[in-house]
Amino acid sequence: MEKITKRYGYLLANDRVDLEIFSGEIHAIVGENGAGKSTLMHILCGFIRPTSGRIMLDGEAVSWRSARDATFRGVGMVHQQFMLIPRMTVLENVVLGHELTRGPFLDRRAAERELKALCGQFGFDLEPHCRVEELPMGLRQQLELVRLLYRRSRVLILDEPSAMLAPQESEGLFRVLQRLRDAGHTIIFITHKLGEIFGLGDRITVMRGGRKVGTFVAEDTDASSLAGLVVGRELEDVVSPRTRQPGAVILRIEDLRVEDDTGRAAIQGVSLDVHEGEILGLAGVSGNGQIELVEALAGLRHVTHGRILLDGVETQNQTPRKARDRGLAYIPEDGPGVGMVEDFTLGFNLVLTRHWHPPFSSHCLLNLRAITRHAYSFIQEFDIRPSDPEFPGRALSGGNKQRLVIARELGQPHRLLVAMHPTRGLDVRAARTVHRALFEKRNQGKAILLVSADLSELLSLSDRIAVLYRGKLQGIMESCEATMAKLGRWMLGLTA
Ligand SMILES: Nc1ncnc2c1ncn2[C@@H]1O[C@H](COP(=O)(O)OP(=O)(O)OP(=O)(O)O)[C@@H](O)[C@H]1O
Ligand SMILES: [Mg+2]
Repeated sequence: MEKITKRYGYLLANDRVDLEIFSGEIHAIVGENGAGKSTLMHILCGFIRPTSGRIMLDGEAVSWRSARDATFRGVGMVHQQFMLIPRMTVLENVVLGHELTRGPFLDRRAAERELKALCGQFGFDLEPHCRVEELPMGLRQQLELVRLLYRRSRVLILDEPSAMLAPQESEGLFRVLQRLRDAGHTIIFITHKLGEIFGLGDRITVMRGGRKVGTFVAEDTDASSLAGLVVGRELEDVVSPRTRQPGAVILRIEDLRVEDDTGRAAIQGVSLDVHEGEILGLAGVSGNGQIELVEALAGLRHVTHGRILLDGVETQNQTPRKARDRGLAYIPEDGPGVGMVEDFTLGFNLVLTRHWHPPFSSHCLLNLRAITRHAYSFIQEFDIRPSDPEFPGRALSGGNKQRLVIARELGQPHRLLVAMHPTRGLDVRAARTVHRALFEKRNQGKAILLVSADLSELLSLSDRIAVLYRGKLQGIMESCEATMAKLGRWMLGLTA
């Protein structure tokens, strides 16, 4: 890529970026939220067009009119948000838009043969007739890769592929990526987890503020100097002197039962307390009931049995607004349209959960001036970029969308904070800011329920850790007796 520039109005998302990718390498792209990583990769795969600059492929200038052109030349991308159709099977998703035909008919058998061959060759663990909605995230991601391989992609681009994977799943992914490289494919991946690059990536490109800082050989650098390059200065450590002991119970869950979307029991008889001034971590392999539990707490999912008490008052099966009025703040799992409204501006999104309260509205009218003032102070405190309340929500980078949701939730009065994967998609510095904020909330006496797939995050933040396995509570451990190995065992359902 030569002198790639992408301009959106006053904003330069990419500024004369030069990037060389060698055939058969694994190349990591790192940088702060909003640095322009996704934009650059979207340009490379034909998803968007650059304002200027050119792409050379095998020494020949190419110009993509659409992602289809790039696919046709062997360049494909797995996006941050998967583009699979959950109701369809693995095989159907693979052939979609690229069907093998025999005369006027779909040649399913040939397609299935091909799929099986790809799975065998690269170690994918996919059953062709399984429906995508039944697959865990790790396998959905493998499916996205298989789709690209089926289309004969040689250059595979992945945008934060490990962000939503459990540690075991990430290892599976990395093995697959190495096999693909050994078979001659070229892999480019974006990540905020600087530690995982070493041992996997051959070279690393760092971006900041739309520009390229440099490209480095992985062997010549290490995680901490890389972190310095990413944020452009030294990172401060997160320290958390505990200033008070846990107090009264704020959240009590009693013998809770909740069903998933298909009517199966997702939470079966869970009882749990979270106290004032306590961070309770919730661990589990994804799909063991975390989402259902959290949604029940937020008033988003029906409780079939049991009670949820917030400060002693029953809140189950009421509206989300009631739960918030009782003192709930809620950071949902990210995903399109979950924590924010993409069609609204940054400023409106920041008051979304209490726009009906003064000073944001009075006599049924929104007070725009108050909303803007509020937005400016939050944008500054949580370093949301660009710092423009009028900026459209949709155009924020992935990590800045996450910052917005966190700013809104931490900034409203609450007693209980339910946070699901709060640092997913955040760069190293922003993740530390969130960790610091959680400690501060704890010291102020809030109760915090923290769900995270990142075990080291859980271990360093939590006072106690509860483990969910198949919708049941496998056990609760004090942080002083918690280790990675013990957590791992409990998460697999081995002894409490
Ligand atoms: N359609 C758009 N209109 C206006 N600005 C945009 C648009 N898409 C992206 N941007 C801006 O371009 C900049 C770079 O965004 P990009 O998504 O490439 O960042 P990123 O490095 O991938 O960040 P993250 O780590 O948060 O995912 C951001 O400031 C973003 O707000
Ligand atoms: Mg991005």
